Amino acid sequence: MRLTLVGTGYVGLVAAVCFAKLGHDVIAVDREPIIRGLLENKLNIWEPQLEQMLADVFAMGHLRFETDVVKASADADALMVAVGTPTRPDGHTDLGHIHEVLAQLMHSATCPPFVIIKSTVPVGTCDELEASLLAAGLHTEVVFNPEFLRQGSALNDFMEPDRIVFGCKTPQAETRLRKLYDGIEAPIHVCERRSAELVKYASNAFLAMKISFSNMMSDVCEGYGADIRHVMSGVGADRRIGPEFLSAGVGYGGSCFSKDLQALMTTGKLIGRSLPLLEAVAKVNDQRIPRMIAKLISLWGNPMGKRLCVLGISFKPNTNDVRDAPFLTLLAQCERHGIEVQAYDPVVRQVGAKAVKVLDSPYTAAASADAVIIMTEWPQFAELDWPYLLHLMRQPLVLDGRNLLPSGVIAQIVNEDNAVYVPVGRPMECSSSAREESL
Ligand code: UGA
Repeated sequence: MRLTLVGTGYVGLVAAVCFAKLGHDVIAVDREPIIRGLLENKLNIWEPQLEQMLADVFAMGHLRFETDVVKASADADALMVAVGTPTRPDGHTDLGHIHEVLAQLMHSATCPPFVIIKSTVPVGTCDELEASLLAAGLHTEVVFNPEFLRQGSALNDFMEPDRIVFGCKTPQAETRLRKLYDGIEAPIHVCERRSAELVKYASNAFLAMKISFSNMMSDVCEGYGADIRHVMSGVGADRRIGPEFLSAGVGYGGSCFSKDLQALMTTGKLIGRSLPLLEAVAKVNDQRIPRMIAKLISLWGNPMGKRLCVLGISFKPNTNDVRDAPFLTLLAQCERHGIEVQAYDPVVRQVGAKAVKVLDSPYTAAASADAVIIMTEWPQFAELDWPYLLHLMRQPLVLDGRNLLPSGVIAQIVNEDNAVYVPVGRPMECSSSAREESL
């Protein structure tokens, strides 16, 4: 199939590369500087294996780049739109980028027979887009095909998805979409467009709800000396619940969950419905960083002038994305309390904030620190030389915001003089000297 795909952000680029890998002829469209970078194989996102796969499909001639959407879609069987749909300050979704793309096609009075919306859009958007194309004399069916890609495992999620959802009106559109995904083994859910649009929001809201539920239960565990990992593995063993997305920690971040929760709440408001469950999910998440700061203060006393080493800046491992990262909230709160921050991340080398020194080694970041906090569950943090790292610190206090460290490493930590290990939703552990001092 000849597919033109507009938008080479996270979703667009991964989709373009994967559809090309499936053997389709893909033309990816974006602004000039972005396309120039891609032609030099310079990606502004960090996703395992993407660079190599992009080079492969490009060399095979299945993927080309363009800056002119009209030219790129002249012979296309379908146009896919994967541009950003950010939240406006009033809580509504900004569809400006989608409108810009379609306006160019309306202006040229040409459009492929199918426009597939991959961007996350509010319910009813595809109906409206199709009506505006029709009003411009273009007989195009607008189809909704949501993405469920996780950053850090996006290629795998694309090629081996749990399900594929098509929101379409006619059997012709369904046939075209099935052809596009030919070669991927997954259950296909076909429904009308409004339901498909809601599947995307409801899925992210549900995942965020699972995380907030675990975080809420972690507070209960801390109060009663129970262990959240045992509680949630017992809960998640029920097949009706499932074991994933039940890890308690510093809360969810990233560009999707908060944005989509907000958009779904606004969707509810538009029809006069409040969605209190979603409000509670967001509220629990907002309490995560203040709770971490409260733990620090209870162990330090006065936080003013203390130095905190932060391990992990990106919102999750295997990405350099810092959008809505819990790290940013932590940084703002540290600034408010007069806490100095030194951070290290395996891939993020800078953050556009003055109040942090980003260092190129976890050990340099730990120098003279009064505590270290693990904010992102990069697996390599479990492999650090923890006894050495603790010796570099002023105070050997470890907050494990992701319950990352295995018991062997925790044993090494609490073997050190005065060391304290503070996990989430589990009792803290101390060296015998630290215990004696607190008695
Ligand atoms: C999320 C969804 O998982 C994807 O299905 C969806 O396509 C994507 O949003 C989107 O809408 O584009 P993503 O934001 O890349 O994907 O990352 P997740 O793996 O979902 O993690 C989100 C946040 O939740 C991270 O900060 C992660 O650390 C946190 N998390 C995840 C937890 O705190 N606990 C968990 O058990 C799982």
